Amino acid sequence: MVEATVAAAKLPPGPKVNPFELIKELLAGDTQIVTNPLAYFRKLHAEFGDLVYSDFGIGRFYFTDNPALIRKIFVSEPRSYAKADAYKEAALFLGKGILNSEGDFWQTQRGMVQPAFQKSRLYAFARSMVATSDAALARLGGGTDVSALSMHIALENICKFLFGSDFAANEQVIREAVHFGNDFISRRIQAPIKLPIYLPAIKNLRFLYYRFQLDQILYKIIDQRLAQGDAPQRDLLGMLLLAEKEHGAAQLAAIGGGAASSASMPVSNVRKEQVRDEILTLLIAGHETTGFTLAMALWLLAKHPEIQEKLRAELAQKLSAGADIDPEELESCTYLEAVVNETLRLYPAAWIIGRRTVADENFEGHLLKKDSELQICILALHRNAKYWSDPDTFKPERFLGETPEPSAKQAYMPFGAGPRRCIGNIFALLEMQIAIAKILVQYRLTVKDTREPEIEYLFTARLKHTLPVDFVSL
Ligand code: HEM
Repeated sequence: MVEATVAAAKLPPGPKVNPFELIKELLAGDTQIVTNPLAYFRKLHAEFGDLVYSDFGIGRFYFTDNPALIRKIFVSEPRSYAKADAYKEAALFLGKGILNSEGDFWQTQRGMVQPAFQKSRLYAFARSMVATSDAALARLGGGTDVSALSMHIALENICKFLFGSDFAANEQVIREAVHFGNDFISRRIQAPIKLPIYLPAIKNLRFLYYRFQLDQILYKIIDQRLAQGDAPQRDLLGMLLLAEKEHGAAQLAAIGGGAASSASMPVSNVRKEQVRDEILTLLIAGHETTGFTLAMALWLLAKHPEIQEKLRAELAQKLSAGADIDPEELESCTYLEAVVNETLRLYPAAWIIGRRTVADENFEGHLLKKDSELQICILALHRNAKYWSDPDTFKPERFLGETPEPSAKQAYMPFGAGPRRCIGNIFALLEMQIAIAKILVQYRLTVKDTREPEIEYLFTARLKHTLPVDFVSL
């Protein structure tokens, strides 16, 4: 029966592309898919509908902005779709962390990491986020590159959350290595021909060097922790090492090694490489994404003084005076939440998400062939006039009121959806809200150059240049 329905399905329409032209453009880095994805995907879906197919002469690709199909892929049948090929490239850097892994292995890893992201734990960590923002603001001059400021805040927050105080001494190396690693992997993902990374080309050697440096830092931190024994640690590394020991003890018991407790587990049984992969994955996934979004939020607020004033009035009314910010109080700041949501809508850091079909199937008469790439451009989805009024306008109010937008639930997913939804979404929202609140109660933001900043669409979106905003003391 399934075979019969698949046999009846037809390939969706799509563009005919000259593969040689495309490869030339990809090699030069000037294909519109990455230089202006919003224009590209808007035109593609306007011309061919909400499910588009093309082999581009180099493979099988589907593009969709159909909410029912998106729901099926992410929420109702996620096991029927594997992660896209891009994640295999990311594995060169991240190893087998939870962003790349699949199936039962992923489920176990998610179970180990998830407890660190409970709301109560994140709320307890909020004090450290406040301190990070305070320290960054104490070093401010009048004119500020909000891109550098936001990246710094995001990197410090995630490092402190992952491995506590070991951050400061290694900040510069971590920042450079993470930046370059992200760039290198993204360009490999977009390259039509992927050469082995051990070929002695300058970029490969730089990548291997940075990866080695990061490994040195991370393994040193892990070894120091293991040497401290079972002293309770509240950061994620401490929790992960404990979970690893429990996992090792359970494995040992399962293969007949008798009931072992985590305390009696030899340290050598801890999968240090797995711990490294998990920590680096969280560092990468949680740093530039949040840094980019926070920078865009500050720039948008500077560009829209009336929205900035309205937000400042809410903060004055809802937050108690004093240096600390209580996360419970932040929950009542609905306009602040709407401002962050609206920034994530207009400028989603994870601008495209991909999966791979694992079997042939029929979706509403369209044939989805096994082993094809299935891409959802979140940026275009978030600006689709079918689901959003005035889609290119910054209007936080759209998330409030009796009939908030969007009109279809799956039309808004800055953090993905379903079981593979971003594990750090509450962490990211909290740190951004804290930083914005801290800034707005002390400064008025203004901007001279209101042109759209240039964005590089890599694995995640990144600002191409500095983003100057004036901070005027109140
Ligand atoms: C504005 C900031 C962020 C955005 C826009 C964002 C976006 C996303 C999206 C769209 C996904 C799903 C990817 C997919 O389905 O293929 C994801 C997954 C993930 N994110 Fe985030 N993220 C952000 C911040 C963070 C932070 C702060 C952390 C860590 C503290 C984090 C850790 C992760 C991890 C580990 C995954 C993989 C989860 C899994 O597959 O089980 N992210 N993120």
